Amino acid sequence: MDEKLSDFLTMDDLEVAGKTVLFRADINSVVINGKVQMKERIEENAKTIRELSDKKAKVVILAHQSRAGCADFMTLEQHAQLLRNFVDLQYIDDIIGPAARDAIKKLQDGEVLLLENVRMLAEETLTKSPEEHAQSIFVRTLSPLADIYINDAFSVAHRSHASVVGFPMLLDAGIGRLMEKELASLRRSVHNIKRPCIYVLGGVKPEEVFDIMEFTLRRKKVASILTTGNVGTIFLYARGIIEPGEEEKADKQFMENLARAKRILKIGGDKIMCPEDVAVEICGKREEIPVDVLKPEQEIYDIGERTSKRYAEEIKEAKTVVMKGPAGLYENEEFSKGTGELLRALSTSEAYSLIGGGHTSAAMSTLGIKKAAHTHVSLAGGAFLQYLLEKGLPGIEVLKRH
Ligand code: 3PG
Repeated sequence: MDEKLSDFLTMDDLEVAGKTVLFRADINSVVINGKVQMKERIEENAKTIRELSDKKAKVVILAHQSRAGCADFMTLEQHAQLLRNFVDLQYIDDIIGPAARDAIKKLQDGEVLLLENVRMLAEETLTKSPEEHAQSIFVRTLSPLADIYINDAFSVAHRSHASVVGFPMLLDAGIGRLMEKELASLRRSVHNIKRPCIYVLGGVKPEEVFDIMEFTLRRKKVASILTTGNVGTIFLYARGIIEPGEEEKADKQFMENLARAKRILKIGGDKIMCPEDVAVEICGKREEIPVDVLKPEQEIYDIGERTSKRYAEEIKEAKTVVMKGPAGLYENEEFSKGTGELLRALSTSEAYSLIGGGHTSAAMSTLGIKKAAHTHVSLAGGAFLQYLLEKGLPGIEVLKRH
């Protein structure tokens, strides 16, 4: 789907003063020992909420945390507390009951109300079409209390959930500032590409990026794909540069990944670059070795310096770079070097760069790398991947002006 911003109503097109705005935010956050972590999603969403409040809208925030049954599935009480660092708001542990409805009706111009985790309503996550979701009790209860629906949650736009696709069927609907930024940047990196375009793919789960590799190679979108992290490792195996040990051979996921990587090499092996040296741990210290002397029992924790330099050269020549996944175990200082070098190469290159996936943006903040003006850091995970595959996202489709 090649959407332009003109396909949507933005906050510049919507008159929100004195209106009740249902605002879908994605403040789904990492939780450590029961504590919600303050991250960009909360900060960035708060900016749009502040703008609506400054414009005297009555803002009702719809948001989720995790999924029912998961350890970090919880109320939004802590999120409310964190949002209060940026914007004044009330929080109510109710979504469609009398307490929530009453609180919405009592909102004054400029006031903000955060409702409870919408995934506490079973209706929210049912797999249904927008038309069906519009008939849910959730959507039918809150719609009459609101004038406008604004979605700022690009990162949940790949879900056909009630709070994402149901309300736009019944209310005037538009996109928030964050969504605007995400769509503009993704378009530049997916549809309006300046070439040469390269992808830098790493992280711990190769299976997450295989579809993208195959898609970009078949569509001849990329000049090269630089592999790092476990993605790089699986391609070293697929090329036969390193041999799997008995443990790997007994691992079903590994063997499936290996077979898939071999198939991808057949599609565009000449475009896929693998690490030539890697960092391993010897006596608790980082040591760099060429890949051809790696022993089966040695775990790879980072790319080596020669690889970082070669990849940095490629990045320098590119006009568009899409990066997903760190190059190694960046949380450990010994093994953060490769990720840091690549991110620094991105920030000093002239290429337009798109960075996606929570771990890559977390690596940027951990390593203290400032975002360059020509870089967009997407706050989305699954939605980002789906967009790169040029699959329509239900939450975006439903917001298009018809
Ligand atoms: C995310 O964290 O990517 C979004 O909040 C979507 O979460 P989900 O994968 O649980 O739908």
